Amino acid sequence: MKSSNLVAVTRRSFGATPDGTHVDIYTITNAAGVEMRAINYGGIITSLKVPDRSGQRDDVVLGFDSVDGYLKAPPYFGAIVGRYGNRIANGRFTLEGEIFELATNDGPNHLHGGVKGFDKVVWAARPIEGTRGAGVEFTRTSPDGEEGYPGNLNTTVTYTVTDDNELVVEYRATADRATPVNLTQHTYFNLAGDGSGDILGHELMLDADHYTLVDETLIPTGEIAAVEGTPFDFRRRTAIGARIDLPHVQLRHAKGYDHNFVLSRRGDGLHHAADVFEPRTGRTLSIDTTEPGVQFYSGNFLDGTIAGKAGHLYGFRNGFCLETQHFPDSPNHAHFPSTIVKPGQMYSSKTVFRFGIRN
Ligand code: BGC
Repeated sequence: MKSSNLVAVTRRSFGATPDGTHVDIYTITNAAGVEMRAINYGGIITSLKVPDRSGQRDDVVLGFDSVDGYLKAPPYFGAIVGRYGNRIANGRFTLEGEIFELATNDGPNHLHGGVKGFDKVVWAARPIEGTRGAGVEFTRTSPDGEEGYPGNLNTTVTYTVTDDNELVVEYRATADRATPVNLTQHTYFNLAGDGSGDILGHELMLDADHYTLVDETLIPTGEIAAVEGTPFDFRRRTAIGARIDLPHVQLRHAKGYDHNFVLSRRGDGLHHAADVFEPRTGRTLSIDTTEPGVQFYSGNFLDGTIAGKAGHLYGFRNGFCLETQHFPDSPNHAHFPSTIVKPGQMYSSKTVFRFGIRN
């Protein structure tokens, strides 16, 4: 359909939602062998093929072969998450003196935008071309009152694949009333390949000296704790599985890692968040972001009951997420960076996922 530099974008049909709305799939390919597919239902990244150290390309994200799998509401595979990524305690917050009640869909709490968040709606989409690559732009207006949130929110999310094997995700939003906004991308990665088992051998580096402690419903207690001397210290590359089953109360609450890490190098622009290395294939993933935090989720709630691509059963810890974000439940914690977007302000956020290989 369109091509820029050495990156090409094509579009074809991916079926329809039950109400007959067409769903399209965009395939974005660069000259170095990266191929990403994304659909306008939920802005979901359905596949991402990258080479390993011997040049073999594999799909490194969890998902489904057809739209039906996504319509069964899997746990946010590949999706854009909004209006607020992560949890808001009891689905309640006060803003400008008014109490707002959100949909609760995770025990007592609001999670990832509610019952029908940005991951479960069809977005308008169009191919885009930039100077460094090409991709797809998704736009949508979230109406006033959706899932309990105040104000209309005009949202644009773009995925750009560059010649340098990067996936650049950019988010922009404006509101006509003050509202919390915390957009993120919820891809589950397995750099050894989709369906290749657990991710415990992946080595992870997180550029975070601190993380936010949570209670048993995964709501922040408000305490920002040092990672030093705990299983949450990933400042040096460490296998995800090395300490995941240690008897630490925070690991027990989440059945593993499911925590917001407070990024240390925060500045105005992009800063480093994480590096991942998969030793068998040599694949690497490096993440830079403008966000102050990243949720590292080790797939603890996957239990083998979801059959994904090629019938792969997604078992315990078969994928991990690194969701760049503001901190969970920020509207209820005045000392966390603010997530409130006011009329006249532009919400903007950017995350770069860079794929590579190492021997
Ligand atoms: C959350 C997990 C949740 C998962 C799927 C992650 O972002 O932190 O607690 O189970 O999304 O819903």
